[in-house]
Amino acid sequence: MAISTKKTKGTAGKNSEKEDIITKKTSTSSDKKTTASSDKKEMKKSEQKDSKKSDKSKNLQELFEDSLKDILWAEKKLLKALPKMEKNAMSDRLKKAFADHLEETKVHVERLEQCFEDMGQKAKTKKCDAMAGILEEANSIIKETEEGAVRDAGIIAAAQKVEHYEIATYGTLAAFAKVLEQESALDLLLKTLEEEKKCDDSLTKLADTNLNAKAE
Ligand SMILES: [Fe+2]
Ligand SMILES: [Fe+2]
Repeated sequence: MAISTKKTKGTAGKNSEKEDIITKKTSTSSDKKTTASSDKKEMKKSEQKDSKKSDKSKNLQELFEDSLKDILWAEKKLLKALPKMEKNAMSDRLKKAFADHLEETKVHVERLEQCFEDMGQKAKTKKCDAMAGILEEANSIIKETEEGAVRDAGIIAAAQKVEHYEIATYGTLAAFAKVLEQESALDLLLKTLEEEKKCDDSLTKLADTNLNAKAE
């Protein structure tokens, strides 16, 4: 009996070993399934990331085009505003600065139109509320001051706000063009950016001269 019990125990032991192996085998195959499904999930995630990346670059292109429309509106508005600033300035040097920048502004418009042409698009404008506000402020200064050094100081301040807005915009547009690999646009935008910076520098010098003359 003792032997038979042992035998039974032995058989039972073997059975339980078999069960263990089956369980292990089953768990190994379910592990494989889990790994495969997590691999699929990872692939999906990476595909989603890739599609998000292309969405982002598409959005940046749209943002780039919108900003071009905005600054084209602003530059065109400046073609009308700069002669008014020139007319209302007293200092001959300031008048000349506005006359010179008007000629540069005409080129800025042409460069922006070229950017649209390079993208195979018609040049469009979109109202730039910021530039409209700055120019409105310039008009108020002219209305509220008498011709002379104080009005010149006010006009220079408004003109520098215009230049600072342009510098910020062209700087951003150039960065966008670089990311979007639009080399021709990048080149055009950087040229304009340099001219806006130079104009701002000469306005700073004129402001110093004007204020020093007023203080004397
Ligand atoms: Fe400009
Ligand atoms: Fe400008």
